[in-house]
This record gives sequence, C-alpha cells and structure tokens, in this order.
Amino acid sequence: MYSKEMLESIAKVEANRAENTVMEPRRMTAEEKEVLLATYHPDYKQREFSVLEIGPNKGDKVPTELAELLQASSRISEGDVDLENPDYETDVLVIGAGGAGTAAAIEADNAGAKVMIVTKLRMGDANTMMAEGGIQAADKPNDSPAIHYVDAFGGGHYAAKPELLYRLVTEAPDAIKWLSDLGVEFDKMPDGTMVTTHGGGTSRKRMHAAKDYSGAEIMRTLRDEVLNRQIPVVDFTAAIELILDENGKAAGAVLMNMETRELRTVKAKTVIIATGGAGRLHYQGFPTSNHYGATADGLVMGYRAGAKLLYAETLQYHPTGAAYPEQIFGALVTEKVRSLGAKLVNVNGEVFMNPLETRDVSAASIIRECSDRGNGIKTSGGYGVWLDTPMIEIKGGEGTIERRIPAMLRMFGKYGIDIRKQPILVYPTLHYQNGGLDIDKTGMTTNIENLYVAGEAVGGIHGRNRLMGNSLLDIIVFGRSAGTNAANKSKEVTVGKLSLSHITAYENLRKEAGIAGETVSPKLLPTYTHGNPVFEGKKKAF
Ligand code: FUM
Repeated sequence: MYSKEMLESIAKVEANRAENTVMEPRRMTAEEKEVLLATYHPDYKQREFSVLEIGPNKGDKVPTELAELLQASSRISEGDVDLENPDYETDVLVIGAGGAGTAAAIEADNAGAKVMIVTKLRMGDANTMMAEGGIQAADKPNDSPAIHYVDAFGGGHYAAKPELLYRLVTEAPDAIKWLSDLGVEFDKMPDGTMVTTHGGGTSRKRMHAAKDYSGAEIMRTLRDEVLNRQIPVVDFTAAIELILDENGKAAGAVLMNMETRELRTVKAKTVIIATGGAGRLHYQGFPTSNHYGATADGLVMGYRAGAKLLYAETLQYHPTGAAYPEQIFGALVTEKVRSLGAKLVNVNGEVFMNPLETRDVSAASIIRECSDRGNGIKTSGGYGVWLDTPMIEIKGGEGTIERRIPAMLRMFGKYGIDIRKQPILVYPTLHYQNGGLDIDKTGMTTNIENLYVAGEAVGGIHGRNRLMGNSLLDIIVFGRSAGTNAANKSKEVTVGKLSLSHITAYENLRKEAGIAGETVSPKLLPTYTHGNPVFEGKKKAF
C-alpha cells in the first residue's frame, strides 16, 4: 500500500524503533512552546482571519470563512413565516441531536418540561459519534477535580472561564456515573474498576473509554434513552433562525425541511442551541475529523440574534489526522494511539517531540517538521509524519491494539495497512471549535435571556485549547445542566409577541457597513465540488 519512498523511510523507522520505544523525549519549555505556536500554529496566521464589522463582536477577529457566514444575509425575510400561528409549541426547544442536545432533552424531560428536538440530519449525526479516545473524569484515588482543573486550565492557556471549568471538573465523576447507569459500556478491569489512560497534557490517567469508539457508544446510549422516553425528534429539519419575542428574549426558531425547503415555526419558552462545531468550514483549507453537518449553524443564528461569541478565533487542529491513504484524509486517529505508546517519528526515523504534549503544541510541532525542517513524508495530499503504531505492542504486549483500538486497526486495515506491523502517516486535521457562544454558569447566553447553549457551540469552557476527553465530558455536564435549567426557567416564562425583526435590523447593519455578497447563512451543509476552494483547498494546509 505504501510507495517506494515511504517504504524506504519506514526502514529507517524500523531501524530506530527499539531505541525510540524506550527513549522519553523531554517536554518543551513554556518559552519553546510560545515560539513554536506563534510560528506554526494555524491560529496565529493573521492573514487567515477577518475583523467583524457588525454584530455583538464588532472589531474582533475570527476565521475568514466564519466571518463571511456571521455577516451573511439570512435565508429568510421577516415576513416569510406566520408567527401568529406557530406549527409547534413547546416548553424547551433543543436545536441539535448530538451528545449535548440529547443529554439536554433527557434532563429537560426529567424536570417535567415539554421538550422537542430538531435536527438537520438524524439523531446522532454529530461530532459526538465521531469521538474516539474517551472522556475525562477525576474519579481515581490518586486524582481529584482540583488536579483535573489545573491540567485543563494550563492546557487552555489560562483562558477558560473559571466558573465553567470548575463545573466541568467537579461534575465529571457524576457524568461518568450517569452514563454508566444509562448503559454506556466503559472499558473495565476484571474486578470492575474502570480502565483509564493518559491524554496529552493530563497529569493523571483519567480517560475513561469504550475502546476507541467511546463517542459512538455514548451516542448509542443517549439516542436509545431519547427514543425510550418518546421525546419528539423532528429530523432532516434545520433551524435557520432564532425567533425572539417583543422583549428580545429567545422564544423559538424558524425551521426548514432539508428536502422540500418548506418553512415551519416553533414557539418555545426556552431554547437550547446544541448544534456542534465547524470542521466542515475547512478553515485554512484543512481537512476535518468532523461529521458532515458541522457548519457552525448555532454560532450564526445566535450571533444574528445578538448573542456574543467568546474565543471564536481559536480552533483545535488535532495533531493526528490520517494523512494517507487519501480515502481517509483528515479522519481522526485517536490520541489514545499515543497514550498507548506510539511516538511521532519523522522521515529519518527520528522522534521529534514528546508524544503527549498538548494538542496545539503537537500540531504545531508536526507542521514545523513537515514545513521548515523538511522532515515530512510526501503523500498524495501533501506531507505527513509517522505515528509508529507497532511500538504499542512492544510496550503493551501482543493483542493490545486489537483490544484497545480496534477501530483504528479496522480503518487502516481496509486499505491494506496493518497498524500492528507498519506505522501510519498523520498530519493535523481541523477537529474542534474552542470558541463559541458566551454563556454563564447556568448555560444561558450572557446577553439573550432564555437562550441556552451546550456542547461545542459554547465558548469559554476550555479556554484557547482543549485537552483530549474534555469535550465528551462537557457535552454531558453542560448538556444536562442546560436541559435542567432551561426546563426550570420555562416554568416561569411568559412569551411575548413573537418577532423576527432582528433579521431586518441585521440586514440594515450589513447595508450601513457596506457588506456586499450573495452568501446566505447558516450554511447547513458543506459544498464539495471541483473548482470550489473548500474542495481544492485541502492542499493549501500543507
Ligand atoms: O483523540 C481523540 O480521541 C479525540 C478526543 C477528543 O477530542 O476529546
């Protein structure tokens, strides 16, 4: 499967493997990291960002692709729907049916609210489903939420909102228990204790996993629970605008059938945005590990309605996306591969970094190796470095790969690469949106009443970089609490006259700022056609 040049490089990897397996490369100093990030991390490439000219974050820089959508026209005009006669009425409207949305719906149901979910694809078509490595929780005797806090706060460059991060780490053990009680099959030792591993930037082994399909196992369980409770789910139907009431409070959404384009309206006492990430916007031409519908819809709807964004300029490029073969370009190669002992190795068979640096540092380090240092391995789509997977079985014994990361074994096996015997090629892939809508500790946006946000659409929980396993955790912690809080709040809400006047107001702001262009948003689905910069752009990231 590998080319002649690749096999020549693999021979060097094999020659050094015994030594590389035992060597422990030192961690970078804070100063080294700072220089590395500023020089090689995509978040620091100023020319790839644009200043927002309108809206609550006017003056802030965000990725150019996102700026275009945030400042685009609505798909509808104010008068396109009949707000007097909504098609649905509910207490809590949940937009999005991934891990955060379903967790929110379950808890809103528990709190006695009438709840409905809308999703533009199917329940579970979400980044939760794509998550592999696991979920963090400090529930072992040598660990504590305080240590978890310190790891995550440092990993996020000390920028996380303390009250959000506090909730994340202190409610983590209960999140694991909640999932276990619902039926998630976490990996366990024969005596029933949970198997836990390290992730990049963690000082304790606190990653709980279901092999390397942890997200799929969690999503399976949450989806079953929603179905068992008969919570209504309107699928293949996108929310395209929030509805506010005459007092500027969230009060529902305009929906669009993805097939017929028919419009529907929902009146709700509270609304939860759980629309996930933005990988399919392919910032800077990067490939992505995200699911097909990850197009930042919640950020766009929230922003047009007046909700503030926090850290929308910070993205996470997962260090190890598959760089070869082309059929799986950008697919996630879980960090757990490195947790289990595989190291990153360059074209000459040299280990060039500690495999468990934080993700931003690891991604920048790989980019440096493939660019200025010229130590990458040429692939059909650009360059990559080796992730030396056979080291895993040298360290952990025969059978470790099949037992702990069977999905990786299968993914590469389909293309004739046996990861137990040969290393794999990796390069950073757009993985996670660190920023999003700004919330308070109840999960409500800081400036639109009755509008809650959970999951990847939130900004501020992790700061400017997220540690592995803290995302599956945040969808549960903040999904659950958004559901409970939105349900409780709905009991005291009286909705005023419904309004879409913010659409007209925003269009006026566009005109005043001289923003031209035909783009409408939210984008809803990516555009993949030849000649389209997003499609062709995959080569730009190298
Ligand atoms: O590498 C991974 O398995 C990804 C985990 C995460 O983003 O938390």
